[in-house]
Amino acid sequence: MKTATKNLEDDHVHVLKLTEVMVAVTRSENPDTDHISSIIDIIKNFADGLHHAKEETLFFPALALKGFSAQQGPVAVMLHEHVEGRNFVKGITENLELYKKGDKSAKAGMYQNMRGYAELLVNHIGKENNILFRMADKVLSENEQHELLSDFEKIEKNRSEGTMAADYIGRIKILASFYKV
Ligand SMILES: [Fe+2]
Repeated sequence: MKTATKNLEDDHVHVLKLTEVMVAVTRSENPDTDHISSIIDIIKNFADGLHHAKEETLFFPALALKGFSAQQGPVAVMLHEHVEGRNFVKGITENLELYKKGDKSAKAGMYQNMRGYAELLVNHIGKENNILFRMADKVLSENEQHELLSDFEKIEKNRSEGTMAADYIGRIKILASFYKV
């Protein structure tokens, strides 16, 4: 049976692949700025815009109804880490702009934020997959899982051409094969 938690775990596989790409990029002497712009776009529109949106607008509120507070406990930690992730993306974006304007010293800050994002997300996804989702599987009924899943699918289908989950997953795969990760 396909569940809402399984749907989120499937996204995680692709987000983790993206973090491997990011670490690989930071080994480049001369960064490919188009690749980094693409990574930022994939994070903003897939990892954050789609995946975190499903968690924040549907999944966490469903858990709140089961007594998981958004102010403390595991959901609060997850929400806080989403914010931390956005701060790393801001750091990558700002340093990328400086780098493209010719400030070569911005590479260090760009790479530091990319590695920071990758490390954060690997830990974050580990906590979701191993702890939070397993708790959710215990408290959500089969019906509630199905309802959530169909709401996730509505969000996924309601996107314009070129911005569907499959488009971003395809782009992650191309980057992964380029960087051999
Ligand atoms: Fe997640």
